[in-house]
Amino acid sequence: MSHLFSPITLRGLTLANRVVVAPMCQYSAIDGVPNDWHLMHLGQYAVGGAGLVFTEATAVEPEGRITPGCPGLHNDKQQAEWERIISFFRNYGAAKIGIQIAHAGRKASANVPWDGGTPLAENDGAWRTVSASALPYADGWHTPHALSGNDLAQLKTAFVDSTHRAVAAGFDVIELHAAHGYLMHQFLSPISNQRSDAFGGHLAGRMAFPLEVFEAMRIAAGDTPLGVRISASDWVADSSWTIQESNVFCTELKARGCDFIDVSSAGNSPQQKISTGPGYQTGFAQAVREATGLPVMAVGKITNAIQAETILATGQADMVALARGMLLDPRWAWRAAEKLGEQATFPPQYARSSPALRGEPIPGNPPKAAD
Ligand SMILES: Cc1cc2nc3c(=O)[nH]c(=O)nc-3n(C[C@H](O)[C@H](O)[C@H](O)COP(=O)(O)O)c2cc1C
Repeated sequence: MSHLFSPITLRGLTLANRVVVAPMCQYSAIDGVPNDWHLMHLGQYAVGGAGLVFTEATAVEPEGRITPGCPGLHNDKQQAEWERIISFFRNYGAAKIGIQIAHAGRKASANVPWDGGTPLAENDGAWRTVSASALPYADGWHTPHALSGNDLAQLKTAFVDSTHRAVAAGFDVIELHAAHGYLMHQFLSPISNQRSDAFGGHLAGRMAFPLEVFEAMRIAAGDTPLGVRISASDWVADSSWTIQESNVFCTELKARGCDFIDVSSAGNSPQQKISTGPGYQTGFAQAVREATGLPVMAVGKITNAIQAETILATGQADMVALARGMLLDPRWAWRAAEKLGEQATFPPQYARSSPALRGEPIPGNPPKAAD
C-alpha cells in the first residue's frame, strides 16, 4: 500500500487517505454567506478522491474578512448555507470536510484579487481593521486599530462562537488560520507585534493571544479534530518569525490538545524573500514534525504523485495539501492513485472513467439518497 493512500486518524476521525485540498479563497460570498459557487467548488472535491477538503478562510466576524467576497461563520444564514454544502459531502462524497476559521486583521478590507487586491477605498466600503499593533501591512494599507484587552476578550468569544457553529453545522475538522500574515500571525511575529503589554514583546507574550484563542476553541470543538495552519517563517532576515519560534509555538499547541499542524509560510511582510520551488515548504513541515511529534501537513508546490508519496515515505510529513494543483485538476487524487497502483474512491456515476473499475461502484463512496 502507498503512504499517500493509507488512512490516517486525527483524534477520533479517520481520513481514507492523506491527500488534502488546501484552503482556497473564492471571494464569491455575499454578506459572508456561501452559495452555489462554493457548493460547486467544494463539491467537486467531495467526489474527487481526496481524504480531506478544506473550506477557504472563513471569518469569525464581518471585519475579519479579507475582502467583501469572503465568507463568515457567525450568523444563522451563513451556518445554514455551510450545512447545505456539508450535506452534499455526506450524501455524495467520500471526503471529509474541514473549515478554516480565520480573521484577517490588518490585511482585511481589501478588494478581491481580480479588482487588484488593494486596500478598499473609503467610498468602496472600507471598514476599520484591527491588529496587534497600529502598523499597516505595507505603504498604502489601512492603519489598523491596536486591539485593547477588552477587544481581545470579545474577539476570543467570536472565535469560540464560530467554533461552536462549525461543530453544530457538522464540519469534520476545524483549522485555526494562524498563517499568511493574518491576525494570529500578526500577534506571533515581531514584525507586526510591537506591543509592550502581556500580549507582545518576547516570544511568550507574542504567543499568548493565539494560544488563548486556541485553548478556548479546543474546549468549544469537543471531539472534533482541531489543528492550526502556521507560517513557519516570515522569510525576512531580521527580527521576524522563524522556524525556531514556530517549533516552540507548535509544542505549546500540542500541550493544549492540537491534533495537527498545517505548515505553510510567509505573508506578513512585503520585505519577504522566498525561495520557491517544488516542495519549498516541506522542510518546515519536517522540522515541526520532528520538534513536536504532531501529525503535519506539507503544502506548497506539491504537484505530482511521486513527489507527494516521497514526502510521506521519507517522513517529512503525514499528509500533503494541494491548492493550485487541485484547481488545475480536481481529479488529481484519481490520477495519483492510478500512478501509485492504488484505487481511489469514485462516485458510481463516474466509475466508468476509472480504467480499473469498468463501472463497478467503490465501497466508501456508495450512492446515497439526497436528504
Ligand atoms: C486561489 C487561492 C486561494 C487561497 N486561499 C487561501 C486561504 O483561504 N487560506 C489559506 O490558508 N491559504 C490559502 N491559499 C494558499 C494555499 O492554501 C496554499 O497554501 C498555497 O497556494 C501553496 O500551495 P500550492 O502550491 O499547492 O498552490 C490560497 C491559494 C490559492 C491559489
